[in-house]
Amino acid sequence: MSPADSGSKDVIRVALLGCGVVGSQVVRLLREQSDELAARVGAPIELAGIAVRRPQRHPEVPAELLTTDAAGLVARSDVDVVVELMGGIEPARDLLLDALKQGRSVVSANKALLAEEGEALATAARESGADLYYEASVAGAIPLLRPIQQSLAGDRIRRVAGIVNGTTNFILSAMESTGAGYADALEEAGRLGYAEADPTADVDGYDAASKAAILATLSFHTRVTASDVHREGIRDVTATDIASAKALGCSVKLLAICEQVDGDAGSTVSARVYPAMIPKAHPLASVSGAFNAVFVEADAAGPLMFYGQGAGGPQTASAVLGDLVAAARNKVIGGRGPRDTAYAHLPLQPVGEVRTRYHVNLDVHDRAGVLAAVASVFAEHGVSIATVKQEGGREKAAGPDDADADDAGHGGDAGTDATLVVVTHEAPDAALRATVDALSGLDSVRGVASVLRVEGLGRPVHALGGAQ
Ligand SMILES: NC(=O)c1ccc[n+]([C@@H]2O[C@H](COP(=O)([O-])OP(=O)(O)OC[C@H]3O[C@@H](n4cnc5c(N)ncnc54)[C@H](OP(=O)(O)O)[C@@H]3O)[C@@H](O)[C@H]2O)c1
Repeated sequence: MSPADSGSKDVIRVALLGCGVVGSQVVRLLREQSDELAARVGAPIELAGIAVRRPQRHPEVPAELLTTDAAGLVARSDVDVVVELMGGIEPARDLLLDALKQGRSVVSANKALLAEEGEALATAARESGADLYYEASVAGAIPLLRPIQQSLAGDRIRRVAGIVNGTTNFILSAMESTGAGYADALEEAGRLGYAEADPTADVDGYDAASKAAILATLSFHTRVTASDVHREGIRDVTATDIASAKALGCSVKLLAICEQVDGDAGSTVSARVYPAMIPKAHPLASVSGAFNAVFVEADAAGPLMFYGQGAGGPQTASAVLGDLVAAARNKVIGGRGPRDTAYAHLPLQPVGEVRTRYHVNLDVHDRAGVLAAVASVFAEHGVSIATVKQEGGREKAAGPDDADADDAGHGGDAGTDATLVVVTHEAPDAALRATVDALSGLDSVRGVASVLRVEGLGRPVHALGGAQ
């Protein structure tokens, strides 16, 4: 008999690791809702102890519960469930592996750890028969992992795409609504408590990449780690990009996209995080401020959207408590919940093969032949142009062949600057990148001012010209 199957419980004792923004709310909810939780679980939930670094900073917690010895707390024989809300990889990793090996069920909100060490943790849970739940690690309060793992267990998920980082969504929303540049919007986010003093994890996409790894793993039954996820952040998004997007009927969002791509050679998994223009008509475009939303598309279910608060103490604690109740119920009945399944072992699709569209903003010399030269670079790389627009000027549906004709009316004075905005049809990312590299080498191009991907996410991007 495994340690976790050793019989039902009439009280569930919890070791809480961490009592910060989320942990303190878990303590509060456990206290305020103890009778209801006991009724739902079938046994009372009691705190066995709370591990922190600096006990003196937690006067609100009964002193006898506090300890700085997290390993000692996890090892206590009267602990049934370990709730990890410390964050970081170590010592959380070792503590949770120890807990699982000893048959303690684990609840965690730690996306970085799950994205990095999910396989080791899942293996330890499987071997001891303990539960491993981590609903709060992706999209805070929003029930998302359980629907993917359980409600859609009979379906085939095709794509999971969403806004999973509130800080970057706040910044991009502020840039869109006020016209502010990135630096000013980041400063505002920091002032209002939406960005940390060091915003790297958020603005460079690390946080979203961890969440994408977890979503891809669960959706496609294939182990994906954070380092497998192609990642680009929002630091280079400019006010001009946002204005260009607006003019095209789009919003710029930092997207986490996980897809199963079926090809002649079999299926692959694509997992990527980058800022992209999406049409305003897409439900994700209207998700603003610090909110999160995730669009899940499954064969039989069709499109589903999950929306809500992706962070915050009480919000995240709600998801943690949901997991805790599930783990506690299993302890009471002497069973265990569903385990992670990573049986499919699908290969990862290299980002160069991902088919997407580009919006390219070029600073050019406004002289005869510019458009033809630019168009021929696209054509040489097999990238078809959907629309070309010159600053202050005309827009027309165009293929590469149309460009020569368009030059006729733009034979301005040699040396005058102009801006050329090109939107492409869908093409492999590698071809688009090579095109942009080649464009920067053209005499007539002063510089590539910006490059943003355009994602229809299953919807036609009519405003940008042509189907996807
Ligand atoms: N905050 C959110 O909105 C949110 C949303 C979703 C997921 N999460 C995840 O939830 C987890 C917790 O986040 P948080 O915002 O609550 O963090 P936090 O406010 O920084 O709290 C961390 C807690 O862990 C304790 N701790 C850290 N290292 C420790 C160690 N080595 N030994 C013992 N205790 C230690 C700290 O003790 P002291 O208090 O004594 O320093 C503190 O109580 C993270 O994995 C985070 O990614 C957070």
